[in-house]
Amino acid sequence: MIPEGTLTDTFAADVVRDLQRTPKQLQARYLYDALGSSLFDGTCRLPWYRITRAEARLLRRHAPELAAAVPGWLDDPTIVELGCGNGEKLEVVLTAVPDAPVDVHLIDISPDALQAATARLAGLSHVSVTRHEAPYEVGLDWVRPQLRARGPALVLFLGSNIGNFDRPVAESLLRSVRHALQPGSALLLGTDLVKPRQTLILAYDDPLGVTAAFNKNLLVRINRELGADFDLDAFEHRAIWNETEQRVEMHLVSLRDQEVWLAAPAVRIRFKAAESIWTESSYKYTEQSIADLGARTGFTVTTQWIDREAAFALTLFESV
Ligand code: AVJ
Repeated sequence: MIPEGTLTDTFAADVVRDLQRTPKQLQARYLYDALGSSLFDGTCRLPWYRITRAEARLLRRHAPELAAAVPGWLDDPTIVELGCGNGEKLEVVLTAVPDAPVDVHLIDISPDALQAATARLAGLSHVSVTRHEAPYEVGLDWVRPQLRARGPALVLFLGSNIGNFDRPVAESLLRSVRHALQPGSALLLGTDLVKPRQTLILAYDDPLGVTAAFNKNLLVRINRELGADFDLDAFEHRAIWNETEQRVEMHLVSLRDQEVWLAAPAVRIRFKAAESIWTESSYKYTEQSIADLGARTGFTVTTQWIDREAAFALTLFESV
């Protein structure tokens, strides 16, 4: 476990560095404090945000095949989940595993997510949960010795969480996953697919304003944890489809010239009217680009399940 002070210091250092960049940015992983995690759960229930429901449908339908598709895995099942969120997805996967003991490793940077997921799984007595409060790569380093010492494992990287990473970072992350696994292990990857712009924008700029609140809460968090004075009314949520990069971007746009004071690090940040803070990327994939990504990182596609209605893919890879 990284001591809490270390994480907080990283937060302060990252925020200051990223707000002093041009263009200004903030890391998407910091969206998930306690309120941010709840607001994210809210976005998942929005009629316009279809990733969560599409993936749950695919998981429910194919979980039994999934368990059977990884040779030897059911003899001594180990699951590693990157970004467990509230544990809902894992709960569905676990329905496919008989009541034999299962070892589960949860890797998430958000203590609130780890807490929620552990609470959800508490009733399953055959499931033993280990929490790793860390960025994915760090958590993978921690579990690697255990994974390499036993049979094939199943890694879950769901919810299109991979979409938050730039293409080269996504690639190096999958290499780290591959590095933690023995050959014959499996990776189940959930990825949102490219679809019409209007559909994408509605998913990230919803008429209820839940996504806007999720995004703006990052400023609330900075105000609280770093003693800052962001005026929430002076920033506006915006979602952009960047066609060239095939990603939806979330921004917080300054509505006027203004200065913001961050007391804890004692830093002043100046904003021009219309200047934005880029807070998240959600990269979209195609069936082919998913397979290509696997091929470049040491995985071959075992099966790909597609929800055509929502344009969402669940891909089972085998590590080679
Ligand atoms: C959890 C990163 C997959 O990018 O779709 C939801 C986060 N952002 N609404 C996504 C999110 C706006 C979500 N991921």
